[in-house]
Amino acid sequence: MSAALDPVSVIVAKRDGRELTGGQIAAVVDGYTRGRVADEQVSALLMAILLRGMSRREIVDWTGAMIASGSRLDLSGLRRDGHPLVTVDKHSTGGVGDKITLPLTPLIAACGLAVPQMSGRGLGHTGGTLDKLEAIPGWRADLTADRLVEQLEQVGAVICAATADLAPADRKLYALRDVTGTVPAIPLIASSIMSKKIAEGTSALVLDVKVGSGAFMTTVDDAAELARTMVDLGADAGVRTRALLTDMSTPLGRSAGNAVEVAEALEVLAGGGPPDVRDLTLALAEEMLAAAGRADVDPAAVLAGGKAMDAWRALIAAQGGDPAAPLPRARHTRQVEAAASGYLAGLDALAVGHAAWELGAGRSVPGEAVSPVAGVTWHAGVGDRVHAGAPLLTLHTDHPERFERALARLDGAVTITAERPQVPGSRVLGRVE
Ligand code: URA
Repeated sequence: MSAALDPVSVIVAKRDGRELTGGQIAAVVDGYTRGRVADEQVSALLMAILLRGMSRREIVDWTGAMIASGSRLDLSGLRRDGHPLVTVDKHSTGGVGDKITLPLTPLIAACGLAVPQMSGRGLGHTGGTLDKLEAIPGWRADLTADRLVEQLEQVGAVICAATADLAPADRKLYALRDVTGTVPAIPLIASSIMSKKIAEGTSALVLDVKVGSGAFMTTVDDAAELARTMVDLGADAGVRTRALLTDMSTPLGRSAGNAVEVAEALEVLAGGGPPDVRDLTLALAEEMLAAAGRADVDPAAVLAGGKAMDAWRALIAAQGGDPAAPLPRARHTRQVEAAASGYLAGLDALAVGHAAWELGAGRSVPGEAVSPVAGVTWHAGVGDRVHAGAPLLTLHTDHPERFERALARLDGAVTITAERPQVPGSRVLGRVE
């Protein structure tokens, strides 16, 4: 931070509701990344941003400063058989049981596009795509930039950890937000996600903005504002961006955890799987194809033809995994029976996410190891008939002493009604372009 810019004056300006200048934002973000501005000062600034908000111009400047803290990948030269390869990516704001990246990435590769999917690890109750894939024996998340480009050209897809020099400011800021109660601020979430996606070099992007108890945004209005902010940031940076708002009041599919979610993704790739997972995979695939200028391709036909499964095998093998190896299974399981007969009317996403986390599927501090076998599976979807005493959920873990805490998290999570509840036809609640 330059001598002229005192961090306290920046904190005070935002505390008092004033707009920060581009110079102030660049200096704080750069100074913090280089260790020249203290954690406690940035913590105070983040809280002031959460309480006071940011203008569109401030969000653009904050995102730009985070991108400028590292390097930006250039994927414009990708080629296959001498022809340019178009890149398109998807990002979800995080949900429970959200394994969509697993079937979607190879499906889009099978449609002839390239997906440079840089994913994260889970923290708290939302699972991380990399943690799920690491349940596959041998699979590795770390790729060099050269290997990433090579794999995109050969396989059409990568799912990997972000390289260390991709928006490093976000890594530091996110860790600080996580311990200062400043994660759920729209300007901070939007800039965090979009700085990484813009730096990753994709030319088109589809955002899956989750709404409901298991998501950062619990109302459709907040989710729509987050989506609008991110779509505008993408457009300003030349990335063709659109968003779907999707329901996360109940967890996706029938599983939350690591290996259990990979198993479900494989069912979708084989042409089956829970209807909500399959439908959302296809809805997002259609958006990705349209954003990339290939609305003529029918992803359902590609899925049915088995090419997405071939692309999955190629993707897993290219990153050291054995696609034919059996997935690991938990040494201990515990059933939860339905307390009454009737219809399943609700299964709370946040409670299921917390239960999976208690069983070992997630971490409580960054860097902690997760258990590949831990998770929760359920045997009925909302609207299905259930019978008193019949198994409704199964808890999976290698550590049976964790069952009690997981069961406590599930207390009150299941709603059974005598009347069949209204079941929404789709998880898609809206779209922003
Ligand atoms: N995911 C991110 O990458 N950043 C956020 O701030 C929230 C979700």
